[in-house]
Amino acid sequence: MSYNIAIDGPAGAGKSTIARAVAERMRLIYVDTGALYRAMSLFMLREGVDLQDGEAVIRKCREADITIRYEEGVQVVLLNGENVNEYLRTEEVGHVTSTYVSVIPEVREKLLELQKRLAAESDCVMDGRDIGTCVLPHADRKIYLTASSEVRARRRYNELAARGEECELEKLQRDIEERDYRDMHREISPLRQAEDAVLVDTSDMTVDEVVERILAICKR
Ligand code: DC
Repeated sequence: MSYNIAIDGPAGAGKSTIARAVAERMRLIYVDTGALYRAMSLFMLREGVDLQDGEAVIRKCREADITIRYEEGVQVVLLNGENVNEYLRTEEVGHVTSTYVSVIPEVREKLLELQKRLAAESDCVMDGRDIGTCVLPHADRKIYLTASSEVRARRRYNELAARGEECELEKLQRDIEERDYRDMHREISPLRQAEDAVLVDTSDMTVDEVVERILAICKR
């Protein structure tokens, strides 16, 4: 039996940074499930699918072969054999994923199998929105990581500013709140805290403090 840690929470709570650090410290594989949904969206965008047409998205999703492999510990997402990592983290792909792609049951079903298989094959930290509730209901540890939308917007603002990109703090916060709403209110596998998940509010914590807290939860 493999050892699995599930980390869920809203956009911008720091899941990927934290999950990656925890995985490294515990010598587990890190599985970023958002990247799988993002790869599906990239495929739809590249193929010019009418995203408003749910049936078209369903038909197209059957043609997407999405897998992952690890290169020196880094997750590489393969879309029909091509490494697409560098195209996944754009605002456009994030928006399309949250609005049109992750809401389609057939897409979720297809990616669910892959996630379950990965968790069964390897000891891992898996992050996403529905890991503790749907993908790994029997995970060894479940964490629900969150922070206020103000704090999440401020972190994003600082990240963009550090890259020299201009943005408006209020708009970032509005976008984050809209994404939360969509992720929490979709019909299938909405974002919510599993009953047996430990809530960690990172609003007033540093990355190191959050990592230590999760390591402590996992040692219990
Ligand atoms: O974590 P992220 O920002 O890469 O996720 C992008 C979108 O993918 C997010 O808005 C919701 C969706 N998603 C999902 O529905 N289920 C997951 N397990 C992971 C992500």
